[in-house]
Amino acid sequence: MKYLVAYYSRTGNNRFVAEKLAADLQADLAEIKPMINAFLLNIFGLTLGIKKIAKNVQDYEAVILCGPIWMGQLVAPLKKFIKKNQKMIKKLYFVTCCGGGEAEKDSQFGYEGVFKKVEYLTGSTFAGGTALSTSWLLSDQKEATPESVMEIKLNEHNFQGRIKEAYTQFVYALV
Ligand SMILES: Cc1cc2nc3c(=O)[nH]c(=O)nc-3n(C[C@H](O)[C@H](O)[C@H](O)COP(=O)(O)O)c2cc1C
Repeated sequence: MKYLVAYYSRTGNNRFVAEKLAADLQADLAEIKPMINAFLLNIFGLTLGIKKIAKNVQDYEAVILCGPIWMGQLVAPLKKFIKKNQKMIKKLYFVTCCGGGEAEKDSQFGYEGVFKKVEYLTGSTFAGGTALSTSWLLSDQKEATPESVMEIKLNEHNFQGRIKEAYTQFVYALV
């Protein structure tokens, strides 16, 4: 299976995951770059342009879309990527490295609503995915607050335990 990993990352976590996916699946990697500050766009609920990615989406049997969650929303660059490439995507997986975990998944800021949104936008091409919560990297002594969860940055050293297991499970299901 020829995969394309297309990612947007503001602070590096989803870039870390996307690069790992590309290496483990021998997939091609493409960064989704917004024309203007994606963060501001998102606050106003806009999906203005993204730059043309360096790969042809129609050349791939499946796309793995990877990016963060902000305020419980599918972020603007990811939404725009889906809308722009919808007709060329044969199969789409969604992977997010976000703050919240399973306990919060159905809350206003949880990932479940974002998966639903991706599914709504991609219809029958949607093939599932996984959410990797940075809260799993907090030590037991540290309380999981939105702030403590948001400041966690993934790296080779801390990518261990539950987050690695969930990642590996997703990759194994694909290969
Ligand atoms: C302004 C802001 C809002 C966020 N809102 C959420 C949220 O609603 N739900 C969630 O699970 N994570 C949320 N997060 C956490 C990010 O999804 C998480 O830190 C992610 O790993 C960042 O990815 P990146 O480093 O690839 O940009 C938020 C982060 C920021 C900065």
